Amino acid sequence: MSKQGHTRAVKGMKDILPTESHLWLKVEALCQEIFSRRGYRQIRMPILESTSLFSRSIGAETDIVSKEMYTFDDRNGDSVTLRPEGTASCVRAGIENGLFYNQQQRLWYTGPMFRYERPQKGRYRQFHQVGVECYGWSTPDIEAEVLGMCKQLFSVLGLENTMLYINSLGDSASRAQYRTALVEYLSQHKSQLDDDSVRRLDTNPLRILDSKNADVQALLENAPNILDFLSEESKQHFTDLQRYLTALGVEFSINPKLVRGLDYYNDTVFEWINHDYGAQSTVCGGGRYDGMVEQLGGQATPAFGFGMGMERLIEMLQEQDAQSMQAEQQAQVFVVSVGDEARLQALTLQQALTDSGVVVQCHMGAGSMKNQFKRADKSGAIVGLIIGEDEAKEHQASIKILSRDHAHALAQSEQQTIAQLDVVNVVTNLLDSL
Ligand code: HAM
Repeated sequence: MSKQGHTRAVKGMKDILPTESHLWLKVEALCQEIFSRRGYRQIRMPILESTSLFSRSIGAETDIVSKEMYTFDDRNGDSVTLRPEGTASCVRAGIENGLFYNQQQRLWYTGPMFRYERPQKGRYRQFHQVGVECYGWSTPDIEAEVLGMCKQLFSVLGLENTMLYINSLGDSASRAQYRTALVEYLSQHKSQLDDDSVRRLDTNPLRILDSKNADVQALLENAPNILDFLSEESKQHFTDLQRYLTALGVEFSINPKLVRGLDYYNDTVFEWINHDYGAQSTVCGGGRYDGMVEQLGGQATPAFGFGMGMERLIEMLQEQDAQSMQAEQQAQVFVVSVGDEARLQALTLQQALTDSGVVVQCHMGAGSMKNQFKRADKSGAIVGLIIGEDEAKEHQASIKILSRDHAHALAQSEQQTIAQLDVVNVVTNLLDSL
């Protein structure tokens, strides 16, 4: 509660206001268009899931599960969690509804996720992801397809300097070997590790590679490299992916320290980073997770996907001031009306014009003619329609060009009076001619 006594939004949760929501709608529509061109279909999962779903899939030692989940008992005493990500829910939904049974699936979703993190720019406690998940392909061609779609999306949005980083974690056997080698190396230099890294040495040593601490990073310079531990099969998989990406014109860098914050990955992992943006510059992350379906009770099914942070994407767009993305749907026509009968006719005209696809704002409530004209000017509309008491009696409307840029569009005079029956025709012809 604020000092004044009104209730505020919960910390880390933000409203998406009309000045911004048009960008969200555009990005979501664009995602749908780009994904559906390759046969991806949308899936919608519940926001609330059983807590065990996440602890069994994301990993009990990850930050997400150990300290960031919104978990509580429902009224029946069952432990439930507001989903911190979409992948586990998607797998649960797929198993439960038989989507993986002798089938391959290209799926996408969008919606809110919840993590109890320290809020800052680009990091919220309720945030939104657009995610893509593919089931039934173990080969790198599907990975190239998905990464190609990401690139298309960033290009269309004008975010070309979003860079792709890839790595391979190998299979579980080679990862276990690497883990042992890394722990051995770091244990020899334990005094140079910060508290967080010392703790992770026992719980989740691969996450130390992600440390932001400069001393730890210096120590990691000479640490064993995960790519040296890959099996022949994983090596071939990773090489093939690189070949496909190069052929597609998707540029990438290999970062052997990229491990991701969730434990379910094997082989390919990746992140898209926009270095112009600031600390939380990873806009999209994902990878292969061939073990999850079986781990959650389904039959073994290879899987690959990503989650894209919508808030970060939108903020990047706002920062680069992409003009094409800024255009809100501005009124083309503003209807001024005085008196009850005129208002009724104004609403009828608005209905007819919007049926024809014209964007129309109608004055509502009380207001003198003068006051309404001021609002009409402010609205940015090109055409004004005026229904005064006289026009209402005759079922007519006066039409006026409001925008200076188009002042000469009406040939004869500044203002014409026409029959209301002709309004849709006259206005649509007029707008088309501009
Ligand atoms: P993630 O890396 O945890 O992966 O999240 C994906 C993206 O969500 C991040 O790159 C970031 O843009 C955004 N994000 C994460 N946390 C926050 C936050 N607190 N505030 C704002 N944005 C955030 C996953 O969630 C996996 N499920 C991705 C995946 C799908 N892997 C395979 N399939």
